Amino acid sequence: MKTSYKDVQLKQPDASHPIIQKAAQVLRQGGVVAIPTETVYGLAADATSTEAVRRIFEAKGRPADNPLIVHIANRSQLDGWIGKLDQQTEALMDRFWPGPLTLVLPLKGERISPLVSAGLSSVAVRMPAHPVALSVIQACGKPLAAPSANLSGRPSPTCATHVKQDLDGRIDLLVDGGSCEVGLESTVLACTSDKIELLRPGAVTLDELNEAGFEVQTDNEITEAHEQQSEGPRSPGMKYKHYAPAGDLVLVVSKQFENTKAWIETKLSAAAKQGLRCGVLTYSERVYNYDTDLVLTLGSIHEPQAWARRLYDSLRAFDQAGIEKIYVEACPAQGVGYAVLNRLYKAAQNNIVLL
Ligand code: TXA
Ligand code: MG
Repeated sequence: MKTSYKDVQLKQPDASHPIIQKAAQVLRQGGVVAIPTETVYGLAADATSTEAVRRIFEAKGRPADNPLIVHIANRSQLDGWIGKLDQQTEALMDRFWPGPLTLVLPLKGERISPLVSAGLSSVAVRMPAHPVALSVIQACGKPLAAPSANLSGRPSPTCATHVKQDLDGRIDLLVDGGSCEVGLESTVLACTSDKIELLRPGAVTLDELNEAGFEVQTDNEITEAHEQQSEGPRSPGMKYKHYAPAGDLVLVVSKQFENTKAWIETKLSAAAKQGLRCGVLTYSERVYNYDTDLVLTLGSIHEPQAWARRLYDSLRAFDQAGIEKIYVEACPAQGVGYAVLNRLYKAAQNNIVLL
């Protein structure tokens, strides 16, 4: 199969734009289409068609027990498959939709394919804040299931080139909307009981939720190295190897930058003696501290949103350069840094050094 790809960047299209119409037509016929969202690119299919949803799992190589997020363009699209919402859930939607917040809600009836929710009695839903994503959903007229448009286990795609690296020839169409503004996935909250529970930290921060008056229960182990061995994550996707580059990634966690620097320098010289190609992921203020094959930055140490925007592109850039050992300076867990750190823990798996 050849992926159809138009080398045109769409920013502010309406539903009548020819590329949006083409995407809607492919989706209505049961195809899979990569579309930009404000967080990362998604691989979309008609959530009401089991055949179409099956093609998402095939294209990504995604385990069937990892459920998908359904994307909608307006709340009336929830009719018939979501039960009555409580006030708190409605208030979350009022405050954060459209935007990078996914809500896990009780599933009702059989309108959505059971593959989407992996047989669970709940379903994850979000209304993206991206004109292309919203136009495609509107033009297609169906709720769209869409996981991140990467091969399972790889860093999420934040531009059309990343999607092509992973999925060219495996999908029907790629709509290029330029680089994603946020660069990190949505925050996932469970709204299936009286409490609101954090299942995946993401673009909407805990501070933003608290400031808006929502009390969110968090699992303090969410950024801990041993999370995978604990009783098991509630969001099925969190248990898999995730966000990982091909090179071996080591995450260095320390409050003292001097310790981090000294530790990494020792490792770099040892690895260089073995002839390994090495990389360091640091911050713009510290970029001149290292001398190795590839030194990249997540932006300024004072700018958490830059870390989110640049994380996945940096991980992929190490792969493109054939880097075998990647040393990453952990970011502070402030603001969206909490979610960035969560992804770094997952990418590192057990390669975490606490200094
Ligand atoms: O920003 C995003 O959320 C992007 C864009 C494309 O919207 N999508 C995305 O999807 O990150 P994906 O499939 O890569 O991650 C979805 C996460 C997984 O961790 C999955 O396990 C969890 O949401 N999830 C989905 N349905 C769930 C459910 N019913 N209960 C608990 N967790 C669920
Ligand atoms: Mg994903």
